[in-house]
Amino acid sequence: PDKAVAAMQEAGPHSLEELNRIISGSEPLVPGATRAVLGEGPVGAAIAFVGEQPGDQEDLQGRPFVGPAGQLLDRALAEAGIERSATYLTNAVKHFKFVQRGRRRIHESPTAGEVKHYRWWLERELDLVRPGLVVALGATAALALAGKAVPVGRNRGLFRFGDRPGFLTVHPSSLLREPDPQAREEGFRRYCEDMRRIRELAA
Ligand code: URA
Repeated sequence: PDKAVAAMQEAGPHSLEELNRIISGSEPLVPGATRAVLGEGPVGAAIAFVGEQPGDQEDLQGRPFVGPAGQLLDRALAEAGIERSATYLTNAVKHFKFVQRGRRRIHESPTAGEVKHYRWWLERELDLVRPGLVVALGATAALALAGKAVPVGRNRGLFRFGDRPGFLTVHPSSLLREPDPQAREEGFRRYCEDMRRIRELAA
């Protein structure tokens, strides 16, 4: 790793801007990403949502949750009456990892080692944002926040990530991958229920 980055990590960033400069200046662990996609939203937000990593659209636009999974998340937030712009949105891993297939860039899940590498940043980021409730969207976010693998199905709901009050639910892309329309609908309904609970918990 870059010596200047290592030195700054040693001292610890004192603001989100400083942390974001470190993140933006770092090379992706796996080459290919256009840029680091930073968290978005106000410091002191009642809710912070943590996803897995930026996707194709997020990498191109430089914003979290703007692709198909983000649009589904937006619909669930709207259904639950959560104002997206009042929340903080970020990812466990800040760079898009993919394999090129012709002209398409196909998402590849980060390894546990990659998640661990980015974990320092995520922890500092949440220390600086100080959200009331941290929501893990899916297993990668749960791994990053808990520091160990947490099965989502069995632990869905209220969950403590160290000293952070949290909530664990599925990643929106798991709903997009569901082939059966009825199951997809049911999955979305349950997702909206989770979001309503999250809103109540964070109120
Ligand atoms: N999926 C994620 O986990 N994060 C994003 O920002 C977009 C899709």
